[in-house]
Amino acid sequence: MIFQFIRFSTILRLALVIPIVALFCLAFVISFFIINWDPRSQLIRRRFPLYIISSLICIIFSFIPLPEIIVGNFWLFFIAYCLIAVITSFAIKYITFKVVRVEKFYQISDLERNKNLLEVKNLKVHYPLIGGFLKRKIGAVKAVDGVSFDIKFGETLGLVGESGCGKTTIAKVLLGLVEKTEGEMLFQDMAIPPNYSCYLRQKIQMIFQDPDASLNPRKKIVDIIADPLKNLLGITNEIEIRRRVLDLLTQVSLKREHMDRYPHEFSGGQKQRIVIARALACNPALIILDEPTSALDVSVQAQILNLLKDLQEKYGYGFLFITHNLAVVSHVADRVAVMYLGKFVEVGSKEQIFSNPTHPYTRALLASRSEIDPYNQEIKFVIKGEVPSPIAPPPGCTYNPRCSSEFRTKECEIELPHKIKIEDDHFIWCVNPPKSMQSTIQKSEESLSAK
Ligand SMILES: Nc1ncnc2c1ncn2[C@@H]1O[C@H](COP(=O)(O)OP(=O)(O)O)[C@@H](O)[C@H]1O
Ligand code: SF4
Ligand SMILES: [Mg+2]
Repeated sequence: MIFQFIRFSTILRLALVIPIVALFCLAFVISFFIINWDPRSQLIRRRFPLYIISSLICIIFSFIPLPEIIVGNFWLFFIAYCLIAVITSFAIKYITFKVVRVEKFYQISDLERNKNLLEVKNLKVHYPLIGGFLKRKIGAVKAVDGVSFDIKFGETLGLVGESGCGKTTIAKVLLGLVEKTEGEMLFQDMAIPPNYSCYLRQKIQMIFQDPDASLNPRKKIVDIIADPLKNLLGITNEIEIRRRVLDLLTQVSLKREHMDRYPHEFSGGQKQRIVIARALACNPALIILDEPTSALDVSVQAQILNLLKDLQEKYGYGFLFITHNLAVVSHVADRVAVMYLGKFVEVGSKEQIFSNPTHPYTRALLASRSEIDPYNQEIKFVIKGEVPSPIAPPPGCTYNPRCSSEFRTKECEIELPHKIKIEDDHFIWCVNPPKSMQSTIQKSEESLSAK
């Protein structure tokens, strides 16, 4: 008897639940198609709750006015229900577009120029050295040792220095790939948190030196560029993905026929264009370029640099352009920071650095540069000695064992270099700046104290 009652009530409950679930599914399918129908909705990352809300509202609305028509009027109820589902989905879509303002994200943004995009204050990255029997910390590699800089929208900061001076480490710490030891990093006036948010992964993009290592050889170009569109922007509609990939390929001067090829079917320059297209996919604000042209033929380098400059002019990206090649910097940078053994030795505008290089290391780098011009690859000067170890840097000025300045004194081996203003926005870190500069420096110091 009891068992019979249980079975009966279960059947009764099922009889009630099944039609409601079926109606919910119907409303879900209708709202799925209506909300996704508009390409703008592809830019709403979390669309699933929208379908649920729309379907629930539809169910509630349909049962309020219609209970008496349900019995005996199945088709009438079915048509009325579908109509209500369509109206609810359109209403939810309309309200969402109003609230989220998706149009704003739809086009690659023209960013507000001259506003501070990135600010780095006294950044230090010391890699711990583990050793000994107990695997304890026995020292540290001072890869970055107290650097400060900022980048504005639409501006390129060129970061130059020899191999091992800490350029890539700065890029890695900005991308959250290594932890900072000390200092502050602000992106659009907000501190970059240790656990990188999805927003930052979209807004800060990286272009590496070797395009071969950056592209998965098993994937077609359309899938490679679609990855960030799917994972970071949440776009799922295949037609919309192909449309956006084609748009991005056109931006980097590639064509529709390149979409369905594999990376090995491209030249080095074309591969780097694909890497650039992928970096642009998420509508970034800051792009970090770590030696983006070093792996390319000299003739292709200029094409890529011009492409990057054009894109920046058009969309206002901020670039942190890392290179050891001053000729490349002279082509793309607005401001230049010269780095030596984890520290900046000179910063200034491109014109100041190239027409009035003041720090002995900058002068030596400029004298030893080669040109982008493939017919003028002559090296006129070689900086003597090796870069000292960042584990045990020389005392005083770390450049002192290699410095060929005539003003170098014993103090250089003891005193730490101090920041000296040469002109507006042009600074060097030195103990004994060249004499030609000392009169200018004195004058600027006097005018500062007079103020
Ligand atoms: N994970 C690491 N652990 C220890 N030392 C490292 C690590 N990564 C880089 N370094 C050291 O930090 C210094 C700076 O490296 P890096 O930033 O790659 O220089 P750059 O890009 O200017 O050539 C080098 O001396 C390098 O050996
Ligand atoms: S502090 Fe001395 S050793 Fe260092 S760069 Fe200046 S002059 Fe040369
Ligand atoms: Mg590097």
